[in-house]
Amino acid sequence: MIIGSEIIFRENLPSTNTYASQILRSKNLKEGTIIYTNYQSAGRGHGGNGWESEDGMNLLFSTLIFPIVVNPADQFIISIAISLGITDFLERYIPVCSVKWPNDIYVNNDKIAGILIENTIMGNKLEDTVAGIGLNVNQVKFLSSAPNPVSLKMITGKNYDLNDSLLRLASDLDKRYKQVLSEKYQQLRDAYIAKLFRLNEWAGFRDQTGIFTGRIKSVSESGRLQVETKSGSINEFSFKEVEFII
Ligand code: BTN
Repeated sequence: MIIGSEIIFRENLPSTNTYASQILRSKNLKEGTIIYTNYQSAGRGHGGNGWESEDGMNLLFSTLIFPIVVNPADQFIISIAISLGITDFLERYIPVCSVKWPNDIYVNNDKIAGILIENTIMGNKLEDTVAGIGLNVNQVKFLSSAPNPVSLKMITGKNYDLNDSLLRLASDLDKRYKQVLSEKYQQLRDAYIAKLFRLNEWAGFRDQTGIFTGRIKSVSESGRLQVETKSGSINEFSFKEVEFII
């Protein structure tokens, strides 16, 4: 196994992503090392948002990978593999979940996990990736202004052992990462597209021109969302160029 071959636990950290990036070179970390914590005092989400997680209730970790075989133009495949690793894990416990493009993990209309991928590109190579995952497991009350958090416990009513869950999730991520290493890109992309939140469903979106109705048709190889509008045209969006109306 690569992902999860080493696990470093710290009782609390500002952010597992920040810590992983800081110690990455100085400590010569092995590929697949997981940095895992119970509490983050400065957990980071996309776009400068924070990440709420009650002490000891959820999975909060970052894994370090060296995807040098991946051309930087194909870097979205990492996001796909990590998203699918999480959906594979969740489907052990719940019947359905989806990936809200680009990489939020949803159950119905609620967000159960977030992913923060930070790549270092040197020359024409993807040198290293820190993939941070926050998965809501046992927390049942969320206090931040995040609109729609949900946890496994809120869905199933059960508590989960975090150490066991981490090992299972690491193994699911590892299987998907191995598909990246063996260049099964088409298989990964097809599985990702099939899991997309609101795939082929008419729904509301907001772009810089305002609100419109559209339906997701696919995601390009570079990770752009392809949305059909009522006029029949297909518009492509990069991350942050379009918002879902939930
Ligand atoms: C998002 O949906 O905005 C991404 C959230 C990512 C949160 C995880 S928790 C573990 C890792 N460390 C961080 O500071 N962030 C990621």
